Amino acid sequence: MDASGTMLDQEDGESLWTFVDITEQVKAMEELERSNAELEQFSYAISHDMRQPLRMISSYMQILQLDLAGDINDEQRESFRFAIDGAKRLDSMMMALLDYSRVGRTGEPMAWIDSPVLLDEALHFLGPAIAETHSTVSVSGDWPRLYASRDEMTRLIQNLIGNALKYHAVGRAPEITISGVLQDGGWRMCVTDNGIGVMPDQIGRLFQVFQRLHNRDRYEGTGVGLALCRKIVEHHDGRIWLESEGSDQGCKFFVVLPPERIEAAVESA
Ligand SMILES: Nc1ncnc2c1ncn2[C@@H]1O[C@H](COP(=O)(O)OP(=O)(O)O)[C@@H](O)[C@H]1O
Ligand SMILES: [Mg+2]
Repeated sequence: MDASGTMLDQEDGESLWTFVDITEQVKAMEELERSNAELEQFSYAISHDMRQPLRMISSYMQILQLDLAGDINDEQRESFRFAIDGAKRLDSMMMALLDYSRVGRTGEPMAWIDSPVLLDEALHFLGPAIAETHSTVSVSGDWPRLYASRDEMTRLIQNLIGNALKYHAVGRAPEITISGVLQDGGWRMCVTDNGIGVMPDQIGRLFQVFQRLHNRDRYEGTGVGLALCRKIVEHHDGRIWLESEGSDQGCKFFVVLPPERIEAAVESA
């Protein structure tokens, strides 16, 4: 039996020891370590072992296509294109899956960090996309210090704003607001856009890997972004959800972090 002891001071000054059987906890920890090691191996297999044969497929297809250049008709050329595209897509899906599996394992360790720094990093990275789409991005509210993994939090914010930029309505420049609110000791961030929106009955599945609502012809993507966001938020003991009134009604993404990850000193943006 594994035991953990606690000493209780009694009123009469005597001390009393209590013992709790922690065999179950120890087992659970071992189990967790084992599954982490397995996941690590699995990611390695994806990123190295499986990518290589996939690259063989796409490069030999390309060589074959070039060799046959003059001898094939348009339909056959199209078949080549589909095959090569498929291999490339599979490669980006595998890389996205690898990214997803790494959350909580290979990111920067948790530390106290000013949330405006995270926001600046994300916005800096998205600068070209913001300019290209003529978007207005406004930031407001409370931006406290967070106990967080810096690169994971930056990616979370970047993914949410990136989606708001990408899923904008035709003929309507994206207007994105990012607000922070200190509430109930915790902190809530909200990213709002005026884009194409989501039908309420579709919302649940979007946080799962590879789930998308749109054809790749219209919007590029692998469908891993929001699953990644959810995993990052859960790694920070928080919650994430989406509210949308439906098609063309824009989206509001909420992230809530619990009190123990927030430092009270408030900085207003
Ligand atoms: N801001 C948004 N407005 C409308 N739809 C969105 C928004 N963000 C995400 N979605 C929908 O959720 C799906 C999943 O998003 P995500 O996981 O980031 O994958 P990706 O962007 O690669 O498609 C998107 O394909 C899109 O259909
Ligand atoms: Mg995305």
